[in-house]
Amino acid sequence: MFEQLPALPQDPILGLSVAYRADTNPLKVDLGIGVYKDESGHTPVLKAVTSAQQQYLSKETSKAYMAPAGPAIANEALQTLIFGADRDSTRIRTIQTPGGTGALRVAAELVSRAAPGAAVWLSNPSWANHTPLMKDAGLQVKEYPYYDAEAHQVDFKAMMSTLAEAKKGDLVLLHACCHNPCGADLSQEQWQAVADLAVKNEFTPFIDMAYQGFGSSLDDDAYGARLMANSVPEVLVASSCSKNFGLYRERAGTLSIVSDSAERADIAESQLLSVTRGIYSMPPSNGALIVETILTNPELTEMWHKELDEMRGRIKGLRTLLAKKLAEKTSIKRDFSFIEQERGMFSFLGLSTEQVQTLKNDYSIYMVNSSRINIAGISQDNVDYLASAIEAVL
Ligand code: LMR
Repeated sequence: MFEQLPALPQDPILGLSVAYRADTNPLKVDLGIGVYKDESGHTPVLKAVTSAQQQYLSKETSKAYMAPAGPAIANEALQTLIFGADRDSTRIRTIQTPGGTGALRVAAELVSRAAPGAAVWLSNPSWANHTPLMKDAGLQVKEYPYYDAEAHQVDFKAMMSTLAEAKKGDLVLLHACCHNPCGADLSQEQWQAVADLAVKNEFTPFIDMAYQGFGSSLDDDAYGARLMANSVPEVLVASSCSKNFGLYRERAGTLSIVSDSAERADIAESQLLSVTRGIYSMPPSNGALIVETILTNPELTEMWHKELDEMRGRIKGLRTLLAKKLAEKTSIKRDFSFIEQERGMFSFLGLSTEQVQTLKNDYSIYMVNSSRINIAGISQDNVDYLASAIEAVL
């Protein structure tokens, strides 16, 4: 039967890593997939993670199945991290999922059960995997304008005028912070306006929080998700531990559902667990138990906060550095200062697909075709090479 299936191109993001690894040019630069890298281009295991893993593994006595929702203490700790200590936890249920991607897919499957073919509004642009994740779960994808590529900022007027059409039974997917791919986030006033619209039009906010702690701080980055949870009756939040805990391959993340009452929250959770039982029974536990150990041990929590601050600080410094290096290139007539204003791992360089291909083919500089770059792939060593190559293609 599989002869019916056509071959598909590689994933636009994951495929870049394969091509980068195969490239033998010693000057190659990886600005593709969104993983944090240190100055030497390495993605380190955080010290807090190594310590926590040693601690919990030394006490582990069984590999028997866990609860379908994953480790309860980890879920509670992550719920606090996302929604704050003063949240109304009676309305929120949080389950562990295989990473943030797993959370998004489980949420989409739940919505498909409740309202088959429901519409989910995605920002234009959005993470390349959002559309297939939603469509494969049977949801209908609609788009709202988000990034003004000329002005390098959120086109909030256009966004709100399109979202005025979103109605009860629709989901509106919002990036909690560090928008992937454009790096431009909503201000607090803008979050408030979207929350007001959600209440008025009765659509369900669906928050993707993959970069908490990479923008401004753990609390500031959760502002939008917390505001929605406090002001809208029904909210979904997919969160990831890939970036902020550096647990990429462990697949740790959560899906939280906020309902208007404890009864509805219990019903939603029972449905969620039936969805996950039908796909993978229960989530992986290693990453979740590492997170649990970190978040329940004050010393490890402090160690993790410091490491997270360092990662965020390094990315901010690289943003400043790249903007400065590009400004020094007198033949470049464009203003790249927006790179310094944007937040998180990603920004668009504003290059054409041809220019991106030239950077890859002639300079071994890898980025997504849209010219999204992972800022963390820049270093003191490669920034001059990068800035010169950008100057050349421009
Ligand atoms: C990215 O956007 O590069 C990351 O979220 C990794 C991925 O899975 O695409």
